[in-house]
Amino acid sequence: MGYQIAIDGPAGAGKSTIAKEVARRKGYIYVDTGALYRGIAYFLLERGIKADEQEKIIEVLPDIQIEIRYEKRKQEVYLNGNRITHKIRTEEVGNMASKVSSLKAVRDKLLQMQRDLGNSFDVVMDGRDIGTNVLKDANVKIFLTASSRTRAMRRMNQLKRRGLNPSIDEIERDIIIRDKQDSTREIAPLKQAEDAIRIDSSNLSIREVVNRILKECK
Ligand code: C5P
Repeated sequence: MGYQIAIDGPAGAGKSTIAKEVARRKGYIYVDTGALYRGIAYFLLERGIKADEQEKIIEVLPDIQIEIRYEKRKQEVYLNGNRITHKIRTEEVGNMASKVSSLKAVRDKLLQMQRDLGNSFDVVMDGRDIGTNVLKDANVKIFLTASSRTRAMRRMNQLKRRGLNPSIDEIERDIIIRDKQDSTREIAPLKQAEDAIRIDSSNLSIREVVNRILKECK
């Protein structure tokens, strides 16, 4: 088993930025598990299947092959052989992912794959249920959070850099809806593991958070 650093937390808390940097500093692999749920969501949206069409979703799940490949140490996501790494980074896909990730069949499909990655490499893995479920014995568990307003501001800046012009209130509303969906679902809800260290990043720089986590890894 490799060294495992689990980072969980709500949408927009800065998990991926922080996890990537921790992975770089340690020379570990970064596993973005949200991308797997997004991959499934992307497939369903392409097929015109709605989030509440449970039976249809379960029926098509075997047709979905999600794969993570590391190219130049960067995570690339493949759906049935096609690279979709960038196509899954939209709000539409994120919201769909949040909805369908509550289905047991969807979570079961992705669980083993995440565990295999955690057992094969030294990893920094981020998601919602890594410390509580996927890598229950992780060496270090972090629960990274920030206020909904801070998270909305960060998302807005990200989207602006991509040339979009979103409204902060709308983004914050979406974030609150997503938090609620993720933390109230029955299976593997978003919650802090008992042995996780809670870090509120609202008033911390990326560097401060990264250093704090690196200190825990000693
Ligand atoms: O982190 P990201 O925004 O890419 O995740 C998209 C959605 O996937 C989340 O809102 C959550 O519902 C789901 N997810 C999950 N378990 C994980 C990672 C993501 O349920 N480990």
